[in-house]
Amino acid sequence: MSKIIIISNRLPIKVIEKNGTYTFAPSEGGLATGLNSIFQQSDSVWIGWPGMEVPLQDEQRISNELLKQKLVPVFLSNEEIKQFYEGFSNEILWPIFHYVPPYANYQMSYWEYYQSVNKKFCQAVAAIMQPGDVVWVHDYQLLLLPTLLRKEQPDITLGFFQHIPFPSYELFRLLPWRSELLNGMLGADLLGFHTYDDTHHFLESVSRILQINRSGNLIKYNNRSIAVEAFPMGIDFDKFQQFVTHETVKENIDQLKADFPGLQIVLSIDRLDYSKGILQRLQTFDLFLENNPDYQQNVSLYMIVVPSRDKVQQYRDLRDEIDKVVGNINARYRTNNWSPIHYFYRSFSILELSALFQFADVCLVTPMRDGMNLVCKEYVASRSNNDGVLILSEMAGASKELTDALIVNPNNVVQMSEAIKTALTMPAKEQERRMKTMRETVKRYNIHYWVQVFMSRLREVKDMQQSLQ
Ligand code: G6P
Repeated sequence: MSKIIIISNRLPIKVIEKNGTYTFAPSEGGLATGLNSIFQQSDSVWIGWPGMEVPLQDEQRISNELLKQKLVPVFLSNEEIKQFYEGFSNEILWPIFHYVPPYANYQMSYWEYYQSVNKKFCQAVAAIMQPGDVVWVHDYQLLLLPTLLRKEQPDITLGFFQHIPFPSYELFRLLPWRSELLNGMLGADLLGFHTYDDTHHFLESVSRILQINRSGNLIKYNNRSIAVEAFPMGIDFDKFQQFVTHETVKENIDQLKADFPGLQIVLSIDRLDYSKGILQRLQTFDLFLENNPDYQQNVSLYMIVVPSRDKVQQYRDLRDEIDKVVGNINARYRTNNWSPIHYFYRSFSILELSALFQFADVCLVTPMRDGMNLVCKEYVASRSNNDGVLILSEMAGASKELTDALIVNPNNVVQMSEAIKTALTMPAKEQERRMKTMRETVKRYNIHYWVQVFMSRLREVKDMQQSLQ
């Protein structure tokens, strides 16, 4: 029987070692969270890295454990983690794709490792891939994998989805390996991105760098037609909706009410990343307090930063800077019984997050660049009373769908601080009108819809290729 093979750099589960004992925990990050629910329901296998270096003698034991959950690990050595994951993926591709070229660190050894680790993934897939299987490769860490797999099995059905932005040609062409990366991606039959702008940027780079002709969103490459389309990713709406009646979540909300009596709460949740605009958001909140002294002691920013990639210098620097700025704002405005910012540098359980989403009056999601951003959709899905206000950066893919949010430019701290005021004073009727529309969108275009549309489009593209032969 044919199966679906999902491949992403990170498995949805990470292995944690403590005193020689291994435990398993859910991975952070939108991709793992997003795909997990669909993965559980279908006949599929997920291939990826388990999140840490596992000593050779323990690999078999871990593999057996993971296989029980249909997960196949690709083990990476510490050197591979450093050069492929932290290096090429997160010190070169991430900053270029998020429009921060000064952060790119073009080390040649990173490229060697990027190629060899993509080959390692290819071998892991080839070992279980059967004719008729559908292969779905995810994200920027594996841009070479589609073509490597096509060489293994030329008639394979292969989809690729990129979860981060695809930058404009002017940025993409800075990469010394731009042609090789595009050639790697074009092994897919269907290439998906979150927004129309991303597909447009990709197609332009293909035309200008590889000089390949295209008609509309179809590329003819090595006698194969490849489709490039936008598939805005959704979330598991029902899951967030169901948390509303969850006993632990209700208890968490009661605790929050007791901890913050009479305060309005502005919520901010991100992975530690310079693309998320965390420092600009802090500057905004500072300006808001300065311009609106009446709000001092009446509103607090509840800010969660989930640790991420903290071996990469820019991330470490950012963490230190956040510590400093938060400390500075709190020291200036706090009173004996009020703190302007409640800052947490750790992960929260989904039940704690659900309580915060339901409790917060305003959710502030202001990335400098974001492929989609799922936090804002999770906030909307949690607001079953149709109240609450979302402030959303126009640089997040989600802003194309959630047009009833207060849309802001994350570089404009004045506009953002005024948006906080607008949000905190928005009449209930207007909150309801906006939230209702956004909830309909998030409910309809949920994660199941996203997977279904991508998969059926992939089969259509395959049929089209066969009818053209
Ligand atoms: C983004 C990327 C994912 C990545 C996640 C977490 O959502 O699109 O591919 O897994 O960030 O980052 P990490 O480096 O911890 O895997």
